[in-house]
Amino acid sequence: MRSFAGRDIISLKDFERHEFERVLETAEKLAPIAHNRKNVDLLKEKTMVTAFYQPSTRTRLAHEAAMLRLGGKVTGFSDAKMTRAGDFYMESIKDTFKMLENYGDVIVMRHFMKGAPHEASKWVSVPIINGGDGWGEHPTQILTDLYTVKREKGRIDGLKWVAVGDMRMRTMHSLGHALTQFDCPITFIAPEDMSLPDEYREDFKRNSLNFTEGGDVREVIEEADIILVEPVVQPDYTKSRDERDGDVGQTPPEFKITKELLETKAKSDAILLHSLPRMDEIPPDVDQTRWARYWQEGFNGVVMRMALLALVLGGME
Ligand code: CP
Repeated sequence: MRSFAGRDIISLKDFERHEFERVLETAEKLAPIAHNRKNVDLLKEKTMVTAFYQPSTRTRLAHEAAMLRLGGKVTGFSDAKMTRAGDFYMESIKDTFKMLENYGDVIVMRHFMKGAPHEASKWVSVPIINGGDGWGEHPTQILTDLYTVKREKGRIDGLKWVAVGDMRMRTMHSLGHALTQFDCPITFIAPEDMSLPDEYREDFKRNSLNFTEGGDVREVIEEADIILVEPVVQPDYTKSRDERDGDVGQTPPEFKITKELLETKAKSDAILLHSLPRMDEIPPDVDQTRWARYWQEGFNGVVMRMALLALVLGGME
């Protein structure tokens, strides 16, 4: 098996099944630390640098919390406007990351440009973890989601997924890549103008993903064991920042998961995931239902980042 030590986590396209299993096992071993709100000294000699060129609540802070739980140190930036990459100089990824590798042992980055983590990885000797790149991928989120499914359902193989939202979204691409390694049929439900980009559709076909596409979650929700939702009312992920401008509209019923829909059509033991943030595609009254698992998903986000940091920094083999 390829070692994770020193390895970049940029795409789930290059993950093999046993590597998913290794990451999930590592998360399970480290989970009690987070559950018990303890800190240990597994990574006490290590520093993590965060380089976030787009806003984030969960991804950056979950990585930071994970590093602190494992006894490591954290430095970095959450607003590139306060660096030379975001001012008059518009410093390149190469020049910026040639500096960042001097400041720590692993770099977690989020960027508005698809492929930016790959570009950064060409210039540094420390591992790069992709915290989301434009309309590219979001591998650590989908590893979190797989871990949540394993915890909640006891297995991954044999479960049917329905993914609802904008299929240009990076989480959807990492999800498709991940499920090529499991026995998991999936239906992608999206508005026509937000359907899967050809590049990913072709990749998924080439790698034998068992998938279909549709346009109304109400027609397929009854088949789902896992319902994964992303917004269709959302910002432009190719921008460094996209402010809300006036009325942005509401989520059409075809892409909305209401309490009534769950009660009348969903399997009794299905689970509902959302990486968050949300708009109105999951109304707040769903939070109290037995289907909702997005708060557990948030907690598991810390556990999964602990596992990834421990593996790439050689704290666990
Ligand atoms: N799920 C997720 O990526 O959230 P943030 O944008 O807050 O990091």
